[in-house]
Amino acid sequence: MYEVLGWLRHLDHLVAGLGDGCAYLGLVDVCSLDHDLTGRGCCDDEVDALHGTDLLLDGRLAVAAGHAGDVEDAGIEGGIGAHDEILSGYSLAFSAPTRSNLYPLWVSGNPMNPFAERHLVDVATFAEINQGKSMRAAVLEQAGAPLIIRDDIDIEAPRAGEVAVQVTHCGVCHSDLSIIEGKFPAAFPVILGHEAAGIVTAVGAEVLTHEVGDHVVLTPCPPCGTCHWCVRGQWSLCVNSDSMVTCAFPDGSTRLSRNGEVIYRGVGVAAFAETVVIQATGAVKIPKDIPLDIACVVGCAVQTGVGAVINTSIVGEGDTVLVMGAGGIGLSIVQGARLAGASQIIVSDPVAKRREVALDLGATHVLDPTSDDVVAATIETSEGVIGVDFAFDAVGSSSLICAGIDATRKGGTTVMVGVPPLDDPLTYPLPAILAVGEKKLIGSLLGSCNSLRDIPKIVSLSRSGRLDLNALITERRPLEDINIALEDLSASRGIRTVIEF
Ligand SMILES: NC(=O)c1ccc[n+]([C@@H]2O[C@H](COP(=O)([O-])OP(=O)(O)OC[C@H]3O[C@@H](n4cnc5c(N)ncnc54)[C@H](O)[C@@H]3O)[C@@H](O)[C@H]2O)c1
Ligand SMILES: [Zn+2]
Ligand SMILES: [Zn+2]
Repeated sequence: MYEVLGWLRHLDHLVAGLGDGCAYLGLVDVCSLDHDLTGRGCCDDEVDALHGTDLLLDGRLAVAAGHAGDVEDAGIEGGIGAHDEILSGYSLAFSAPTRSNLYPLWVSGNPMNPFAERHLVDVATFAEINQGKSMRAAVLEQAGAPLIIRDDIDIEAPRAGEVAVQVTHCGVCHSDLSIIEGKFPAAFPVILGHEAAGIVTAVGAEVLTHEVGDHVVLTPCPPCGTCHWCVRGQWSLCVNSDSMVTCAFPDGSTRLSRNGEVIYRGVGVAAFAETVVIQATGAVKIPKDIPLDIACVVGCAVQTGVGAVINTSIVGEGDTVLVMGAGGIGLSIVQGARLAGASQIIVSDPVAKRREVALDLGATHVLDPTSDDVVAATIETSEGVIGVDFAFDAVGSSSLICAGIDATRKGGTTVMVGVPPLDDPLTYPLPAILAVGEKKLIGSLLGSCNSLRDIPKIVSLSRSGRLDLNALITERRPLEDINIALEDLSASRGIRTVIEF
């Protein structure tokens, strides 16, 4: 039988159950305790062990109980420590908040306690994060430099509304490369990597949606649900997505440091690292049978590409499409267009291998921009010889955006998915064509996705075989090889490399 021992305001630092059914160890925001915790123990040893072990840390009460050895081994005097016996304990549980959002603290002798596992995993994470154990990450000190693998990066425990995620896999996207090459702005030193998947290892206060052990895909645009843009259904423009440029949380902090020096969160995620702390809405749960090494590419490439087709531009059945660039993003646009029922999908890319993959994934025609006149060939190929309904730039080049405008029919839409470098301004020679021809030019950030809605949708399309994520992944490498992966991307060798941790 369970017994209510007290009421906790937060669950984030409630860490473990100890011993034989009535002992517990926690560092908690104590709101009110209905019982004298120190009086709880099933044997004298445990009660004795409590004396002198309660301490205040950062305004939080550390509560310890258990056999004297347990508490000592747990290093309670220094805070919290990991201990084999903690990991084998099955005594503590909590349940959904009751009584004005307070969580009842339960204790039970039942080793089958379904809640115990969460705490047991929490204890390891909490100890790791709080006992000065640093993590490994690839750091970019400044634009133009190679990434350097460091093992001295400190990461804070998740705050309210956040989760910590152990990164298992992270794809390498051209936006990372553009920051390294100085083509996109960023704050330095920075940890890049934003196309990641992993496993939740700790859950901050007020997070009722996640459990330790959940499998998640991370997204650079965690919708807050309440800002000007979220309430209008423009989730990818949420105030949280500013982090993609500021490389920090909205309050300016990053949760990352090195010997006290701030390290920035590249593209709002910082996933070329063992652990990421992110808003809970930025860690989108996926079913556990979906392999994380494949799911990671949904975090950027597939959300961006498929979303640009089904959310930003809304390609319809029978529409005609030009896709310029057949990298991770362009090939995802191709697949999105196929899903949407486009009748013609014309793909242009200078790399023969990528054109071949495009044909496998649904392209109906391919062009080589080094030898073909892409605009003329597209208009020539298009239904009615009037130009395509939609043109997508998936390279990031102002001249290609202009080519897209020229290749679309009157009333057609050019979608800017690629991000041209800051020093590549758009100068369209005949703006009158846009006005008189009612041509549209629109931007697309992360496929205008609501990640919470669209990541599960995309994952489910891949499970049913309607989207091929595997085809995008041509190499897997350890973090140590990150610079080789970036060189491959720069030379368009393969398509996506996934970094495995
Ligand atoms: N809008 C967004 O939310 C968003 C998200 C992710 C990436 N991006 C941007 O999308 C772009 C593509 O990213 P990626 O990871 O797929 O890059 P990538 O390097 O894998 O692919 C780019 C492709 O463009 C091809 N290419 C180069 N010059 C070309 C030309 N003149 N005509 C046709 N194709 C050409 C290359 O051969 C390559 O296949 C980048 O600019 C990236 O920053 C935007
Ligand atoms: Zn990306
Ligand atoms: Zn928002």
